Amino acid sequence: MDYSFDINSLDDLYQEVILDHYQRPRNKGVLTNPDISSKGFNPFCGDEIILSIKLDSKGKTKCILFDGQGCSISQASASMLTELLSNKNLDELKSISYSFRAMMRGESLSSGEMSLIEGLEVLEGVRKFPIRIKCALLAWAALEDGIEEYSVKVLKKEP
Ligand code: FES
Repeated sequence: MDYSFDINSLDDLYQEVILDHYQRPRNKGVLTNPDISSKGFNPFCGDEIILSIKLDSKGKTKCILFDGQGCSISQASASMLTELLSNKNLDELKSISYSFRAMMRGESLSSGEMSLIEGLEVLEGVRKFPIRIKCALLAWAALEDGIEEYSVKVLKKEP
């Protein structure tokens, strides 16, 4: 599998934002006793991302951390995810994630959907390298799996 990727092929502004998140990742680490914990694994390269999320009493994200290693795209995308998803409920997380996924698939988004993923458009250029879309989606796949797992666990507890 060819994972070669030249970040210089992206627009200057996009390069700058991605490299900034890669070199100075926001919210990196692992929470103890998270409500949601999930791992995203890319079998093609072996890279993985771990997401841990603490919710507040209203079910909104209080703290989101990511950990793991991978390429600049996967790390930058995970770092941006943690910033964008703070103080959101699970339905909002899902809507943002689905909109981001749709953008990466090249679907046209409504202005409402675009505003949900404000800031993430810097990753859209990655679509020129189809094999790297998986890198950009790695943390988001972990997020969706984590929400699914959490929902099943919480629903199970309800009478
Ligand atoms: Fe492994 Fe991008 S090359 S996640």
